[in-house]
Amino acid sequence: MRKPLVAGNWKMNKTVTESVALIKELLDFIDGYQKTEVVICPPFTSLWVARELIQDTSIILGAQNIHYQNEGAYTGEISARMLQNIGCSYVIVGHSERRDYFKESSEVVARKAEQSLNFGIKPIICVGEKLVDRETGKTREVVKEELEAVFAILKAKEMANVVFAYEPIWAIGTGKSATPQDANEIIKYIRALIEDKYNETIAQKIRILYGGSVNQENISSLMAESDIDGALVGGVSLQAMPFSKLVKFQQL
Ligand code: 13P
Repeated sequence: MRKPLVAGNWKMNKTVTESVALIKELLDFIDGYQKTEVVICPPFTSLWVARELIQDTSIILGAQNIHYQNEGAYTGEISARMLQNIGCSYVIVGHSERRDYFKESSEVVARKAEQSLNFGIKPIICVGEKLVDRETGKTREVVKEELEAVFAILKAKEMANVVFAYEPIWAIGTGKSATPQDANEIIKYIRALIEDKYNETIAQKIRILYGGSVNQENISSLMAESDIDGALVGGVSLQAMPFSKLVKFQQL
């Protein structure tokens, strides 16, 4: 049985002051809720204060990006060791905004995932197609290419600590979510590729999230699907009450 995971990707939002306010509110609503694993991914500047507020609570800390080198002359970058030291258990890698705006290749994304695992941080590896890919029937091809770069680097024992997120780019921040059936179909396809490359046990164990305009209205129907194990949430994660409702989707 895969435990549901809801991760909030705050993207480039919230000052330290605003982060403190949001986390305090979140703790009021969801601290101690055990049915869903909850991860928040604030910007780097808020990681320390987030860690101070959520240590000894049920909320888990994640980051939004990582560099694949150990350390050195990489101005503006953040290493796995830094994230480990600040208490991050998860890191998002390969978000479509990074692939697109910062030209991260699938190979770079795979190296980031590998580096995070080297430091005991679980990567949430994002994959997903653009609207034009979907309209031209290339969804599976795009997702497969992104996954194969990861498969080329990660060994079976490392896969146990990986989370995937299927985020169709046309659904991100648009209010236009994929239908639960469409999302489930691609997530099942991802699971089948994992099984082909590794084995059934690993494929059944790995959690695969859906991301893209997840909200209070659609979370229950998404989570009712066989292979959707949780959500990677952008906009809604910036407000405590609606995000908490997503976390407690079992009660909706
Ligand atoms: P929205 O939930 O705002 O569509 O963002 C999804 C996302 O990109 C999460 O990583």
